[in-house]
Amino acid sequence: MQLRLTRPQLNELELLRAGAYGADMRYQLPTRDANVATLRVTDIAVPPSIELLDTEATPIARVDVRESRTTAAGTWVAGDVTMLREPAAAPFAEHRPSAGLPLLDHATLALGNDVRDPDGDAVLVDAGDVESLSRAVAAASRSPREIRVLPRPAAAHLSGDDADALLTHLAEVLFASSVTTRRATGRARGSGMVILLTGLSGSGKSTIARQLTRRLRAESHQRVTLLDGDEVRAMLSSGLGFSRADRELNVRRIGWVAAQLAAHGGIAVCAPIAPYASMRAEMRAMAEEHGRFVLVHVATPLEVCEARDRKGLYAKARAGEIKEFTGISDPYETPADADIAVGADDESIEEAAEAVLRAVLHAEPTYMI
Ligand code: ADX
Repeated sequence: MQLRLTRPQLNELELLRAGAYGADMRYQLPTRDANVATLRVTDIAVPPSIELLDTEATPIARVDVRESRTTAAGTWVAGDVTMLREPAAAPFAEHRPSAGLPLLDHATLALGNDVRDPDGDAVLVDAGDVESLSRAVAAASRSPREIRVLPRPAAAHLSGDDADALLTHLAEVLFASSVTTRRATGRARGSGMVILLTGLSGSGKSTIARQLTRRLRAESHQRVTLLDGDEVRAMLSSGLGFSRADRELNVRRIGWVAAQLAAHGGIAVCAPIAPYASMRAEMRAMAEEHGRFVLVHVATPLEVCEARDRKGLYAKARAGEIKEFTGISDPYETPADADIAVGADDESIEEAAEAVLRAVLHAEPTYMI
């Protein structure tokens, strides 16, 4: 099995090699105290050996799997890591752990996209968004000081305060005897986001997505792009059908474009059916390389979608004129990992869009730079 590592997963491997988790080159099953390197895969059947690829698909390491554990959030793998090749250089290599720079007495760890002048030496966080890291490095370089770049690990089992505590711990292990943490105030510019609305055809995804997009444009200073299912199929994915393979390709394309928008600080609102959990997990992984991922389940029941049947497709699917129709003759895997579910119980479009907006704007970002 081969696994293409995301930027945060490459960061975690870099930390492992730098000795941030101790002398052993080993992934461990996650524990709440968290000072271990972890690896999450999407497959449930884990082979005895996994080859890790960098972002250019070059094999860089091998994991000899000792044990694994599957939870609702995915499968974690534990085992020894052997490096096969040097990964492609990460941004600001001269400031990173592998540069072998001297330990500092004291440093300020800048959590969030904080470009205010830090006091003294600074530890900046590489959370996968090169633009925002570059801005932070440029701002910190305006005064003479030591700069260190801390790779933010995937640490997919942690969120919020626990993830921040891990960063502080890593900064102390790698860079400075004493670390003061400073968090950016307000919503950071450059913290991109991908919002995926998944649900059956006719569930109201597109209408909610349009209303949400309008509301986000009013409430957020970030640029908002709508990638609607039907529109994408007319342009980006024209020629694709509805087999599992074609749907996967369609959703992968949407996920890639959305992640690029997030990488440049934007918000992408996507509304394909995205019927399989594996394709949503892939979108999540791509998005979380650059920013937040919010999964919205538009949970309008099949009977309601079918009764509406605005496009007349359900009738055709029932008559066998359309094959592989989601909900009728093709599966829809209900998400177990949705951040919010809307659309059930006669909720109006406005109410649904407001509920998503609140979840998006007020939830604690997990992957904020
Ligand atoms: S996805 O499965 O690849 O995510 P997508 O959202 O792009 O689907 O396209 C779904 C839209 O295509 C539906 O809203 C419907 O209008 C149309 N459609 C045509 N054939 C099918 C089908 N077999 N299954 C589902 N939707 C279909």
